[in-house]
Amino acid sequence: MEHIKSALQKAGVLSENHQPAEKTVTPVQVKPSPTSSQKVRDTAPPALRTVKIDPKHLEKKRIVSQSMSDPNHIAFNLLRTRVRKAMFDNKWKTLAVTSPTPGCGKTMVSLNLAFSLARSPGLKTVLVDLDLKRPSIAPTLNVEPKSSIAQFLLGRAKPEDCFVQVDENLIVGLNSGHTPSSSELIQAPNMLDLFSFIQTSLTPDVVVFDLPPMRSSDDALAFLPRVDTALLVVAAGTTTTTEVDECELQISELDKLLGLVLNKCENASTEEYYY
Ligand SMILES: Nc1ncnc2c1ncn2[C@@H]1O[C@H](COP(=O)(O)OP(=O)(O)OP(=O)(O)O)[C@@H](O)[C@H]1O
Ligand SMILES: [Mg+2]
Repeated sequence: MEHIKSALQKAGVLSENHQPAEKTVTPVQVKPSPTSSQKVRDTAPPALRTVKIDPKHLEKKRIVSQSMSDPNHIAFNLLRTRVRKAMFDNKWKTLAVTSPTPGCGKTMVSLNLAFSLARSPGLKTVLVDLDLKRPSIAPTLNVEPKSSIAQFLLGRAKPEDCFVQVDENLIVGLNSGHTPSSSELIQAPNMLDLFSFIQTSLTPDVVVFDLPPMRSSDDALAFLPRVDTALLVVAAGTTTTTEVDECELQISELDKLLGLVLNKCENASTEEYYY
């Protein structure tokens, strides 16, 4: 933790005399699912739509881990290797990516990490856009979703219509639109069907969930108990000490905090990305 704190101090996110915040837990209001459960069919692996991604479009969106022509991809390889080791050592499969506030770089980190993980030989990776209010993986990849994870959770779509094959080892679950009842949907029984579909039909080695920010709604906090571990992305110069403390504490109380990713660090070299 000292390592992270000194990096955050260096980036101006934490003050020198940083102290952990008082414990505050926001209770999660669980409401009944608005939908009836849609049972996932127990059949052979589905034929997913294969999409071709334009590497130039990806690089414009700061997704550098696919083509690897931008040297910044090394930072994501370092993150990938440490995440993969922690997950392998602990027999974990599911990882959430969240942040205190909007725009810290969750989607950018999730996509770069997923591409980097998927380049590991034999490591089947699934990335799921679970930001039901402001989904952005589909536009970042420049892919038009046939259907969306939100529609599946509402019982209106087949799961295989929400996922696309992006690379040999990478499958992505897409989302679109704005779901006002996202908090209830994230806690709906159909979420179990989504996990079951991913596990039994996509058979991944690792699943990355791109979540919404923690302070904008209770979506992330409600979902975190379902995953094995989580990364908290913080933005240098934007994320405050209080925000880091509060979110770190909330994730730690669930015993899910794998680490912090310091993003938007001015003049950062690859050695200055910490997790
Ligand atoms: N290291 C960086 N340097 C400069 N710009 C960045 C960096 N990381 C992300 N961005 C840009 O910041 C914006 C927000 O990034 P991103 O969408 O990944 O954040 P987010 O946390 O997922 O946002 P949201 O909360 O809306 O889902 C994007 O335009 C992205 O290209
Ligand atoms: Mg995002």
